[in-house]
Amino acid sequence: MALSSSSSSLLIITIATLALLLFPPLSSCSSISSSSQQLLDAARRPEFFDWLVGTRRKIHQNPELAFQEHDTSALIRSELDALGVDYSWPVAKTGVVASIGSGDGPVIGLRADMDALPMQELVDWEYKSKVNGKMHACGHDVHVTMLLGAAKLLQSKKNDLKGTVKLVFQPAEEGYAGAYHVIQDGAVDDVEAMFCMHVDPTIPTGTISSRPGPFLAASGRFLATIQGTGGHAAIPHRAIDPILAASFTILSLQQLISRESDPLESRVVSVGFVKGGEAFNVIPDKVTFGGTFRSMTTEGLSYLMKRIREVIETQSAVHRCTATVDFKDTELRPYPATVNDVGMYNHAKGVAESLVGETNVHVCPLVMGAEDFSFYTQKMPSAAFNIGVRNESLGAVHLLHSPHFVADEQALPIGAAFHAAVAMAYLDRPSLEVKM
Ligand SMILES: *[C@@H]1O[C@H](CO)[C@@H](O)[C@H](O)[C@H]1NC(C)=O
Ligand SMILES: [Zn+2]
Ligand SMILES: [Zn+2]
Repeated sequence: MALSSSSSSLLIITIATLALLLFPPLSSCSSISSSSQQLLDAARRPEFFDWLVGTRRKIHQNPELAFQEHDTSALIRSELDALGVDYSWPVAKTGVVASIGSGDGPVIGLRADMDALPMQELVDWEYKSKVNGKMHACGHDVHVTMLLGAAKLLQSKKNDLKGTVKLVFQPAEEGYAGAYHVIQDGAVDDVEAMFCMHVDPTIPTGTISSRPGPFLAASGRFLATIQGTGGHAAIPHRAIDPILAASFTILSLQQLISRESDPLESRVVSVGFVKGGEAFNVIPDKVTFGGTFRSMTTEGLSYLMKRIREVIETQSAVHRCTATVDFKDTELRPYPATVNDVGMYNHAKGVAESLVGETNVHVCPLVMGAEDFSFYTQKMPSAAFNIGVRNESLGAVHLLHSPHFVADEQALPIGAAFHAAVAMAYLDRPSLEVKM
């Protein structure tokens, strides 16, 4: 940039100084960096660390599915009682929302999901799931423990908090939109910004990643029923064949991606099951099939939903069949896209850098996974971050939702300190910057 006169450069410098005074960059603030380190040191002390590990293992051994997290919820409440932390319960059936702080000033929310998955753990270790067919394979046991760790850290600093921290222990992330129900219950009405983290076995322990803006896909499920008229397979003209109609329909659904979606915008339609017929020589009455559809934008998801219905109904009509398409009877509400607020992202990124060092904080790639944290991102400035739990020497290398999933427990104090530091630094922000 060339400056033509010294007066204009003076003006620019003055504006820059003024801007710095009004909006001090958070990550360069050394007091935040020292308090993040203090929090991490506290969470790494042997007694604290052993409590984290013990808590996590208890939850890991007793996994509970969506909206059935009764024991997990009781464990959370008993730990909060022991810490002297107030909470509301039940929120959205099994959820617990704890509050720590002054009771006035801004309110920031921290969220951990509590539910496990309906799958059998295949890791052979002392603290393996005791419940057949249920496993914490998405690390939500780790999330709950990290947030309890944050409760302990924040409670010890409660007189320094310039506002209130709400710790949201949320049920039913896996498919049942627990976040939506927490919001419906009004439990986060006064929360002005929200933060969460998810364990990530693709990045090493001690690293943190995220990205500003779109972070995870919007996702929905559909169930289609194509009704024809069954008959003898040797007399097809007396029947109305739903199998042929379903075949054309499934092929046509792929055109929604290849012909109707911007190639630069990521979308997915996948049919996951098809059911119909039993015999070699009988045309069945009906065929059902279902699948998932995803988009990086919530608008893209609405478009796909509308067109999936049209394609299934009209392609079936071409083949003289009738069709119904259900997006709700699958019990599974569509998830909007998870979009990180740029201000909240920058805030948490600055805190992450002060915690684990700049070289250990990365921008992650986009993936088509989905998260019900998206419901909060729609309501208030929010950011979701990934926290590394990969450690080859422990065999912690398997992906989320794998029956072999292992998390490095050394990540527990980092997560606890990250949660607590994000909240404390947020409440310390000058009020002007909060509105950015
Ligand atoms: C992996 O785990 C081992 C044993 O706990 C530890 O010594 C090592 O530092 C860990 N690696 C990372 C990247 O944290
Ligand atoms: Zn999951
Ligand atoms: Zn998860």
